[in-house]
Amino acid sequence: MPIHHATLHQLKIFDTVARHMSFARAAEELHLTPPALSIQVKQLAEIVGQPLFEQVGKKIYLTPAGEVLTTACRDILDRLDSVAQDFAAIQGLEKGSLKLAIVSTAKYLIPRLLGDFCAKHSGVDTALFVGNRKAVLERLTINQDDLYILSQPPEHMNVTIEPFADNHLVVVARSDHPLTLEKDIAPSRLRDIPFIMREPGSGTRTAAEKFFEGHGVVFKARMELGSNEAVKQTVSGGLGMAVLSASTLRAELATGELAVLDVRGFPLERKWYVAYPVGKQLSPITRAFIEHLFSAPPANWLNLPQPLAITSSAGRKKRSASSK
Ligand code: PGA
Repeated sequence: MPIHHATLHQLKIFDTVARHMSFARAAEELHLTPPALSIQVKQLAEIVGQPLFEQVGKKIYLTPAGEVLTTACRDILDRLDSVAQDFAAIQGLEKGSLKLAIVSTAKYLIPRLLGDFCAKHSGVDTALFVGNRKAVLERLTINQDDLYILSQPPEHMNVTIEPFADNHLVVVARSDHPLTLEKDIAPSRLRDIPFIMREPGSGTRTAAEKFFEGHGVVFKARMELGSNEAVKQTVSGGLGMAVLSASTLRAELATGELAVLDVRGFPLERKWYVAYPVGKQLSPITRAFIEHLFSAPPANWLNLPQPLAITSSAGRKKRSASSK
């Protein structure tokens, strides 16, 4: 059967399975069931006249025909995306979509900015993926979204990145901890204190580990938790200290439930970056959102008590990180 008999739906399903190399993960992304995907891929293979995947053990691999079809699918779907952008350009900012993938710590600032943006552009449909740094980088690798927000430039990737705000990491403890009364605490004094860590793959965790390693401090990880909220609750419960982004602590610092320790070397000064693959065609809506990120007054979303208040956005400095 000629390939012209294939439907766009089948090509999209095939492309998604090939991106994830997993029917289960593709099904999750497409909100379909794995058997529904298998049927479509099977029909596509019948049209092509050759198998598209082969299974070895529990893993699937693309066959040579599958490789060829993957390249063709990317071309077709990219072309359709650019047609959609051309239509969006004709309509200006009245209609269109914006897909963002942000690291979980950024959820304390980006949804507010997105809310303001959508209030100005009510015809824009938005999708927001929230995951840790590792998950966001995986999506960036396969160009799954319009923009990516993270707090450390990706390494070994061909991306354009722009810092748009400061992200300060601090050591936080329950406010009745004796160390909250001390000044200029040497990092080595944290050696015997139990730490509540974010999960592996978290950018916050990586930055904290790098700091302690650099200061020769082997800290005690008491617990590993998959979200900033869970870490804060555990610190509030008096089970240990944590390194967290100041932007996650607005409520707890305001009520005095948690306190920031004056540890030498902290805060760790990082930036929030907006990133996208080099050469990506940005839609007018995407460009408008980037402008919105830069124009938002920092006080709107990092309203922390002094002396932690973040004073300015990071200024506009675009660069490409292409250390492939
Ligand atoms: P995280 O990312 O939510 O994965 O810790 C924050 C960061 O990259 O600093």
